[in-house]
Amino acid sequence: MQEFRDKKLRSERITALTAYDYPTARLLDESGIDIILVGDSVGMVVLGYEDTTQVTLEEMVHHTRAVARGVKRALLVADMPIHTYDTPAEAVVTARTLVEAGAQAVKLEGGVSHILQIEAIICEGISVMGHIGMLPQSVREEGGYKVKGRTKSEAEALIRDGQAVETAGAFAVVLEIVNPEVARQITDALKIPTIGIGSGEDCDGQILVTHDLIGLFPWFTPKFVSPEARVADEIRKAVQSFIARTRSGT
Ligand code: KIV
Repeated sequence: MQEFRDKKLRSERITALTAYDYPTARLLDESGIDIILVGDSVGMVVLGYEDTTQVTLEEMVHHTRAVARGVKRALLVADMPIHTYDTPAEAVVTARTLVEAGAQAVKLEGGVSHILQIEAIICEGISVMGHIGMLPQSVREEGGYKVKGRTKSEAEALIRDGQAVETAGAFAVVLEIVNPEVARQITDALKIPTIGIGSGEDCDGQILVTHDLIGLFPWFTPKFVSPEARVADEIRKAVQSFIARTRSGT
């Protein structure tokens, strides 16, 4: 994990994308991505749930196994699903389960509130990526995906979260939908790299949900994403050509 701190020291940006299946993982890996996250965003973009709060550990294990078969060089991180790390003991069991499925590190949501969980997992020799800012597993309590760090007290709390996650031993931290100026301050304050999503350009790296990047989930694209492809359109075109060809008997 020192490699990621070294990248920060050299001001080399870290790249991260999500994958939930073998072909996508293999394509991302072969393209040279640094980190592949089996995100619990699988719940929305693959399983058709409304948000990540229904994703189970069994589902994460299934997708982590598939991704692990396709990854040779990137770091494979798996998300710990909601309510599988409510206590440090539960967190250790979940992290071990994901590592057995092929993950090389795990990610969990929460800062100061989850220090004991992060420390317990690291004590087991498993690397942890933190995740602060907008926490999708709390979207129902929060009432939506809102920018974090807009007020002075929220910004101060986020900086404390970042520092707590670093002190607990995490090797990197995701900043999700954090006010870009606050994301910059957190990035400057930490030795571990910050990986931003919707948090401006000044993080040490960027992560996106691959479906958003390639236009594979056309029914919703977050405002901060500029898709690089329109894969859904290509699928529709191919399917319509197949239907037309088959029906006309050509
Ligand atoms: O689940 C996920 O895909 C994530 C990223 C958006 C950071 O947590």
